[in-house]
Amino acid sequence: MLVCDCMGIEYDEIKEAYKKHGDDIEAISEDTGAGTACRCCLHEDCDKVDLPLPNAIKKAKEESEF
Ligand code: FES
Repeated sequence: MLVCDCMGIEYDEIKEAYKKHGDDIEAISEDTGAGTACRCCLHEDCDKVDLPLPNAIKKAKEESEF
């Protein structure tokens, strides 16, 4: 699932970053590069990607709770 179109970041990479940074969106963005170009994917309603960064972080959080 694509999280950031500009930087070509997939959900799996966000999931890995979540393990290191928790739900700190700035740290995850800095680490992966997601959201550092057009910034669309920093917003939940971005329609350029499958799963914008805030949603991807929520999903990673949910999955880590099981
Ligand atoms: S889609 Fe993520 S910075 Fe452009």
